[in-house]
Amino acid sequence: MSEDTVLKVNKLKKEFGGLVAVKDVSFEIKSGEFVGLIGPNGCGKSTTFNCISGLLKQTSGEIEAFSTDISHMRPDQIQKLGFTRTFQHTRLWRQMTVIENLMVPPRKQYSPNILTSLFMPKSRPNEKTRLSNAYDALDQLEVPHMAHNLASELSGGQSKLVDIGRSLMGDPKLLLLDEPVAGVAGPLAMKIFNNLRRIVDETGISILIIEHNMDFILRQGVDRIIVMNEGEVLMVGTPDEVRNNREVIEAYLGE
Ligand SMILES: Nc1ncnc2c1ncn2[C@@H]1O[C@H](COP(=O)(O)OP(=O)(O)OP(=O)(O)O)[C@@H](O)[C@H]1O
Ligand SMILES: [Mg+2]
Repeated sequence: MSEDTVLKVNKLKKEFGGLVAVKDVSFEIKSGEFVGLIGPNGCGKSTTFNCISGLLKQTSGEIEAFSTDISHMRPDQIQKLGFTRTFQHTRLWRQMTVIENLMVPPRKQYSPNILTSLFMPKSRPNEKTRLSNAYDALDQLEVPHMAHNLASELSGGQSKLVDIGRSLMGDPKLLLLDEPVAGVAGPLAMKIFNNLRRIVDETGISILIIEHNMDFILRQGVDRIIVMNEGEVLMVGTPDEVRNNREVIEAYLGE
């Protein structure tokens, strides 16, 4: 694993009973890269994320991060290496404000549970830093005005933004975002991608983002795109390479 590789997935396979959700997935993410992961419904994108973040144990294959074998690590151990993730279905605490949502300690990000999150005593000493980080996250996403809105008052797109803000808390090195703009109106979706691009360029973190719309991802300034189909990687390339790949054209864009 070369020094600037933050994540290396090698021959990942995940079966659920008789169903092979992920057959053979290999790719690498480098430091400071913004990479899209795309593929049709059910092709294994979220399952790949769940294996990387330790929520699911893979059937076979290896996952390395920051030169450490994380294949058998628990989600909290993986998180400590500098991973954060969002889920396909956003879960905010609806009766709390945006800033309060950001303040909920991340230790439960893999299985949100309001009681354990709120009453975890170790969160207390860091409260001031977390508050300042929360405002920074909203600044980075250009939505500081939302700080005191109730989560229940937010639109779907705004909720997704808060979820991304939550994933930025605590200085992540690698963000895994599962369809953060699904169902979000075009202009806001583009704004979210622009902000993510800027965050990558300014901070040098890496982002792997799942998106289901090929046309859209090709125009959003990602460095590379991993194209999945039926549990396998069809190709990895720059947006231009993907746009001109015959197999991809046939499978996704139609000719
Ligand atoms: N926990 C699970 N138990 C059983 N089958 C599962 C489980 N999670 C996913 N699957 C199945 O594995 C396959 C891949 O699912 P996955 O959610 O990874 O796809 P996806 O690419 O994220 O799809 P989508 O675009 O709809 O989000 C699907 O057939 C799905 O039904
Ligand atoms: Mg999914």
